[in-house]
Amino acid sequence: MRNKIIIGNWKMNKTPKEVKAFFKEFNKATFKARPKTIYGIAAPACDLSYALDERPNKKFVISSQDISKHLSGAYTGEISALMLKEMGVTYAIIGHSERRTYHHETNKDINEKAKIALENGICPIICVGETLEEYESKKSKKVVETQVKECTKGLDVTKVVIAYEPVWAIGTGKTATNDYAQQMCAVIRKLTSDKTLIQYGGSVTPESIEELLKQPDVDGALVGGASLKVDSFIKLIEKK
Ligand code: 13P
Repeated sequence: MRNKIIIGNWKMNKTPKEVKAFFKEFNKATFKARPKTIYGIAAPACDLSYALDERPNKKFVISSQDISKHLSGAYTGEISALMLKEMGVTYAIIGHSERRTYHHETNKDINEKAKIALENGICPIICVGETLEEYESKKSKKVVETQVKECTKGLDVTKVVIAYEPVWAIGTGKTATNDYAQQMCAVIRKLTSDKTLIQYGGSVTPESIEELLKQPDVDGALVGGASLKVDSFIKLIEKK
């Protein structure tokens, strides 16, 4: 049986003070976490060290939201796998649709970033997903297949996480149906392996996560908005 993996993607939210306040409240709460579930958050780069210092224990994983495709050198503004690894960061979200849109990241860029992450002990969470236009013109399967193939080219797919995030469901409140999420995750499963962890992301809430996680090929969730508040985050990761 595969583990589950639930990661809160904080995007560009929370100052260091707010990160400390989040963990102060989180660390006081009593709850039982879901069994066999990896959980944690992806913080903005400047918040990572605060999150690492304040998290309750190492079981609570800390992820970056991007990674450089280079290990060091003249790349102003970039953060390398070596730096993240030494800090204690263990996951990196790569190729989020917001990076693809606002920073023009291509499948090739994402493949290079995932490769360097893996080679340096950081688990890549590779994001894929179709736009609304592609969804409406029934191109979802084809688009996602191409993204998965190109982004995972030459990688050990048993060691990566794939996050299926239909762009039309991100931050819109329009979550995909459980059947649709399952169908698309099954498409990704065929191109990866039985061991690969596949998340769904896009307007996931504490209310919708339960049924989603029952889908055979949905191994977890990448959650934006609903991961920002402690009570809502706990509802996502607690044992039901
Ligand atoms: P929302 O959960 O806010 O829709 O964001 C999803 C997402 O982009 C997670 O990476």
